[in-house]
Amino acid sequence: MAPEASDRKKRKKIAIIGGDGIGPSVTREAKLLLDVYREKAGLPIDLWELDLGADRYLRDGTTFPKEIQIAIQRECSAVLLGALGDPRVPGLEHARDILFGMRFGYDLYANVRPVKALSDKLVPLKGRAAKDVDFVVFRENTEGIYVGMGGQFKRGTPDEVAINEDVNTRKGVERIIRAAFEYARSHGHTRVTMADKSNAMRHAHELWLRVFHEVRAQYSEISSDHVYVDALCLYLIQDPSKFQVIVTNNLFGDIVTDLGAAFQGGLGMAASANVHSSEPGRVALFEPVHGSAPPLAGKDIANPFAALLTVGMMLAHLGWPDEEKRIERWVTRAIDEGQCTVDVGGTLGTQAASSWLRDRVTSEL
Ligand code: NAD
Ligand code: IPM
Ligand code: MN
Repeated sequence: MAPEASDRKKRKKIAIIGGDGIGPSVTREAKLLLDVYREKAGLPIDLWELDLGADRYLRDGTTFPKEIQIAIQRECSAVLLGALGDPRVPGLEHARDILFGMRFGYDLYANVRPVKALSDKLVPLKGRAAKDVDFVVFRENTEGIYVGMGGQFKRGTPDEVAINEDVNTRKGVERIIRAAFEYARSHGHTRVTMADKSNAMRHAHELWLRVFHEVRAQYSEISSDHVYVDALCLYLIQDPSKFQVIVTNNLFGDIVTDLGAAFQGGLGMAASANVHSSEPGRVALFEPVHGSAPPLAGKDIANPFAALLTVGMMLAHLGWPDEEKRIERWVTRAIDEGQCTVDVGGTLGTQAASSWLRDRVTSEL
């Protein structure tokens, strides 16, 4: 038996964390879809729901217990996360412990964020259609300004100082740039763009530029270019169709993918994966790009499609790429037929939009 086939026979355990705000309601819909795959299609997946997030933190102080972190690492193939962030926890300490506990703790260095418009209706740029919006951002996910190095001095006085260090290691920069090129090669893409700010950040981003030139030399069949991130934002708006794979650091990747989400119909349509690219067997984290959107919480209006498309990315990662295509196809139909939430031109609530799609998927399985 081919290793791939035997792999697929093994049961896969998926941890599910709804989190805060709209997180639990969109994750509930994602879980219902996974239930269909488990019960109707017989996919060998086991779901493990975890009570983590602001409610739990405010109740008993728990953020991300060490034993849960270890159990996920040992037992799970994937984690599905809704969103974290709650106005009752303004310091976001629970969110950082959980989110960075997984991104950093499991060394998930590639945050892969596809920017793909599924329908012409969703593209807000003048004269552009869905065919013009199809690229992937490889965001470095374990370093940069996110590591939390720094501090405050003389806080609250007129002389106060606040510092966040931007940490860039040779290993970290090289592996994300290489992951972007490997992805381009394996997906038949012909262009990789690296975005930095080496004109201003001449220590940290000179490293990015130098490593980029070294790595690109090993992928001579792929054309590659370097742009400053400010110009990248301009070029993206002018003509997103020029881009195929973009690789950048943690902070710029975060910002550029919210911009990218606008080309896809908003944050309700943007899915993402956090993976350790070179070791696909290890646990990976899947989450919509959006946050907890507190004003939408509890109203049955949040778009569940980002979470459902994220289920698709997760199933592809676990060995069922056809299911990602199936989910994407039905999301596209839902948008085109108006069977969707208001943010993408429909009239349905979260649950109704999700169950329309789930019924179609179910009847095909
Ligand atoms: P957000 O992504 O929650 O919302 C930004 C905008 O997008 C809002 O207008 C919101 O209404 C809209 N939006 C987001 N998701 C949507 C959906 N599914 N359907 C329809 N509209 C949607 O970002 P924010 O307002 O800057 O942050 C809110 C909280 O979420 C903060 O605490 C932030 O730190 C946190 N956050 C968490 C994550 C995560 O858990 N990975 C990601 C981003 C933000
Ligand atoms: C994201 C979010 C997070 C990030 C926040 C909540 C720290 O914006 O996942 O895109 O900046 O990575
Ligand atoms: Mn973000």
